[in-house]
Amino acid sequence: MDVPDQTARSELDRALALDIVRVTEATAVAAARWRGRGDEAAADEAAATTMYRAIARLPIEGVVVVGEGEESESPILYIGETLGAASETDVKVDLAVDPIEGTTLCAKALPNSMSVFAVAERGHFLKVPAIYMDKVAIGPGYPDGLINLNVGPTENLKAFADAKGVPVNELSVCILDRPRHGQLIEEVRNAGAALRLIGDGDIAGVIHVSDPVETGIDMYMGTGGAPEGVLAAAALACMGGQMQGRLIASNAEQQARARASGITNLDRTYAIADMVSGDLSFAATGITNGSLLGGVRFTKEAILTQSVVMRASTHTIRWIKTTHADVSKFD
Ligand code: FBP
Repeated sequence: MDVPDQTARSELDRALALDIVRVTEATAVAAARWRGRGDEAAADEAAATTMYRAIARLPIEGVVVVGEGEESESPILYIGETLGAASETDVKVDLAVDPIEGTTLCAKALPNSMSVFAVAERGHFLKVPAIYMDKVAIGPGYPDGLINLNVGPTENLKAFADAKGVPVNELSVCILDRPRHGQLIEEVRNAGAALRLIGDGDIAGVIHVSDPVETGIDMYMGTGGAPEGVLAAAALACMGGQMQGRLIASNAEQQARARASGITNLDRTYAIADMVSGDLSFAATGITNGSLLGGVRFTKEAILTQSVVMRASTHTIRWIKTTHADVSKFD
């Protein structure tokens, strides 16, 4: 089937921006019904099923590139799955999904879990397996190449502090609170920076660097999921900022999975443009309350959601508060 011409394509992309936020809204509502119930599996299944159905209705021919795992690990939203409603206006796209970013946060009703979905032109998301990725990120307005995964955290902090024109002890760094980060945490503290340790959710962690005045976070550092790394890169491609990521394949099985994804050089350091490119749209809806987005609220008359939807080519960022008066559409 022919891809539509550029004008039709851009109209469609605009329409798609609202469509993709509808996907994250529906998914967040499904997840929120499981908020605080301590059942991660049930929350994940409800969210993934809802997201799958919502994407299946979109006028796209999508291929899941960042998903819920390999085909053997997940019945839906697995890497390589083709999704979308066939139509004359079919647009061939890549899909990056995370029905619940922060499943534990949702199950425990802790802040910052959200539903995330990004769409790019076909072939423009880095295909990564569900292994770890080392990450460093800063917000917009700094010289290219200022941060570098191949130097230590102290050097990155000093370079960033110099560029910002402040001492290191005025910087704040977000890191996932994990035993594996013991040494990193110690080094950041010794360098003099403050730490915001988060329990989960490093997509939100990275997004925080895009607006340090609002969030109080200057830099993100540490190891988290590689799929979340690609989604975070998609968000920063829209919001501005710099990020580097390097895959960590810690055994032969992970190395084989990385190779099967098409990764030939496991030592490669990826910049944002190596992880996501071309035009893309990114949407997220809060499940639990967070510092970026409020969580889903259920009232007698309506369901209320808060989302952000952004586009890389225009850097448009829309913060959307939606009142869903017709609650039956979520049944
Ligand atoms: P899930 O929602 O899949 O549980 O991911 C939450 C998360 O905190 C991610 O944001 C992060 O990239 C990853 O887990 C870190 O993995 P781990 O919990 O193994 O440290």
